[in-house]
Amino acid sequence: MKLGIIGTGNIGIALGKALTKKGFRVMFGSRSVAKANQAAGEMEHNADGGTIANAVHFGEIVFLAVPYKSIEEVLRNSDSFNGKIVVDCTNPVIFGEYPELAIGHTTSAAEQIAKMIPEAKVVKAFNTAFSNHIANGPYFGPNDGSMFFCGDNAQAKAAVAKVIEATGFEPVDCGPLSSARMLEPMAVLIIRLGNNMGMGNEIAFKLLTRE
Ligand SMILES: NC(=O)c1ccc[n+]([C@@H]2O[C@H](COP(=O)([O-])OP(=O)(O)OC[C@H]3O[C@@H](n4cnc5c(N)ncnc54)[C@H](OP(=O)(O)O)[C@@H]3O)[C@@H](O)[C@H]2O)c1
Repeated sequence: MKLGIIGTGNIGIALGKALTKKGFRVMFGSRSVAKANQAAGEMEHNADGGTIANAVHFGEIVFLAVPYKSIEEVLRNSDSFNGKIVVDCTNPVIFGEYPELAIGHTTSAAEQIAKMIPEAKVVKAFNTAFSNHIANGPYFGPNDGSMFFCGDNAQAKAAVAKVIEATGFEPVDCGPLSSARMLEPMAVLIIRLGNNMGMGNEIAFKLLTRE
């Protein structure tokens, strides 16, 4: 399967590393084609770089791995999202002494993005784990990490669940895209635990279920 990854930072590179190893073909899209090529060069194989529009055009699934505040600019520079599955990895975080959400309760970053690109099938995922576990796998002994995801299109969610499994996380379907209102605060919680409460980034969420 062909994946477009917009953004060459922590999450973009982590997704690229995990998924190219599993045989997915990736095109990085960046504001700078040189940076996208550099990101592709960090992968062992299966990766190319291009513009943001090139990566959107290439991907059957397109990951938004950019700051939420840059989304409008990124979408302005994109190709058509018609029929594409779009994975929103963003968190609308304001970093201060304690990180906060810029929006929430009655909407979410994912729902705002879905309104901006109504022709796409938006799925929220990969926003509640630190990038090191996305790159290397969420392996904590018997308790591998869970990856919560949500969206309004069943076929898109099934495709994204397979991608989540490929990264080693256990996919947990959280229902409609409005569940992103719960998933985005979870990201702020794990950042506070890691950064403010001194737990570092060797932590991840796990949903326990009784057999
Ligand atoms: N870091 C984590 O562990 C983590 C975990 C879960 C979710 N997230 C979320 O994932 C998203 C990306 O996080 P990250 O840690 O990968 O961020 P990052 O390292 O700062 O990278 C973000 C990338 O976005 C691209 N970008 C496009 N337009 C931009 C603009 N106007 N200003 C700045 N960057 C722009 C840049 O790539 P180009 O320069 O190549 O265009 C940049 O490398 C964020 O929304 C974050 O909340 C992060």
